[in-house]
Amino acid sequence: MELDNILEGIDLNNTPPVEEPLRQYYFLKKIKNIIRQKEEEKGRSLTMKVVTFGCQMNARDSEKLTGILLSAGFLEADTEEADFVIYNTCTVRDHANQHVYGRLGILNGLKKKNPDMIIALCGCMMQEQSAIDKIRKSYRFVDLIFGTHNIYKLAELLAGVYEGHGMLIDIWKDTEAIVEDLPSFRKYPFKSGINIMYGCNNFCSYCIVPYVRGRERSREPEDILHEIERDASEGVKEVMLLGQNVNSYGKTLQQQISFSELLQRVEQINGIERIRFMTSHPKDLSDELIRVMSKSDKICRHLHLPLQSGSTKILEQMNRKYSKESYLALAEKIRAEIPDIAISTDIIVGFPGETPEDIDETIDVVQKVKFENAFTFLYSKRTGTPAAAMLNQVPEHERKENFERLLGAVPSSAGSGAPCSCRRRK
Ligand code: 5AD
Ligand code: SF4
Repeated sequence: MELDNILEGIDLNNTPPVEEPLRQYYFLKKIKNIIRQKEEEKGRSLTMKVVTFGCQMNARDSEKLTGILLSAGFLEADTEEADFVIYNTCTVRDHANQHVYGRLGILNGLKKKNPDMIIALCGCMMQEQSAIDKIRKSYRFVDLIFGTHNIYKLAELLAGVYEGHGMLIDIWKDTEAIVEDLPSFRKYPFKSGINIMYGCNNFCSYCIVPYVRGRERSREPEDILHEIERDASEGVKEVMLLGQNVNSYGKTLQQQISFSELLQRVEQINGIERIRFMTSHPKDLSDELIRVMSKSDKICRHLHLPLQSGSTKILEQMNRKYSKESYLALAEKIRAEIPDIAISTDIIVGFPGETPEDIDETIDVVQKVKFENAFTFLYSKRTGTPAAAMLNQVPEHERKENFERLLGAVPSSAGSGAPCSCRRRK
């Protein structure tokens, strides 16, 4: 049903419904009215800006936030000089957190010029208690904070901000819920990102994602296919299926379905010409997936296959559940079955206990696999992860030396996003 029709059927004199997404439609109508009233008072439109940090998952979440805000009546601003500004944050490395604190200082200046401005923070960094404590103490001008599990509640939370006083904080530790069918905005007309699963169960020892994005949950295949069909009917030609570990898609569903089965169903959707996906964990990449990719006309010949380290000793400490040899064997098998495949990767330098000899192992893998692209990261200690408690942290100067040495061996790393080397075989 059209959004306007849904909202028309809602009576704000009733108490808010309990079930989702109806409850959010109720609050959407509520903030729509509030925004209209404010526009009349100010004699101008109200503007908003969503700023995204981090990965493609966050980019997709930001489209959902944008969809809700546009439906509520905000106009999108080009800059952060807006009536509502939200930072969708990342915390995978500490650098990302520091960046947010720096930019918050600038927002404070803007709010002094426009005291009605609402500043909101959401996303991964907000799932960390230390960040919340710091913002509460030193960034009192922030109006709203929520996390990764309740972004679908933006309308309800915003209604709370308009009606309340002071900072509103709503952080959930985890959730089972996947709320479908809320407004969403697509940044590009011809391509779209589709969440197929949320969270991660792998607990790589350096990584904060399982703590801030919660346990792995897959979306029902019908919901995914329905969303892609709708996008295709609106002109989308390329979809990027998103998950922290797409190769374990379906394991949490009652009716189990594998990732390669899902891919085959997506391939059948008329209008979709290119299918991409990320990220693949090497430990879960099946022969079936390689076979399906090799036969497909639509699936792009690209795999993002994070290596993280080429040293079996370090991989064990990282809890990656594969060895140097098994990674090499997997890459060889993929290249044999799909000769025109492009393989990209992520590598971390400076994990606790890593020696120059371990870097030699990593360089060896880089040279053998011949990655088309490699994203290299300096290890960042994330509080609460097992690696942060390891006693053999590598001194910064050593980490940097090793990093420089690796950089000399890898192909150009752009730092964000992954290449599409898709070549359709017709
Ligand atoms: N330090 C540095 N890099 C990290 N990554 C994840 N956690 C950390 C960390 N603590 C990198 C991994 C992952 C990519 C998205 O970010 O390489 O694949
Ligand atoms: Fe982090 Fe490992 Fe999960 Fe990737 S698979 S999100 S690196 S814990």
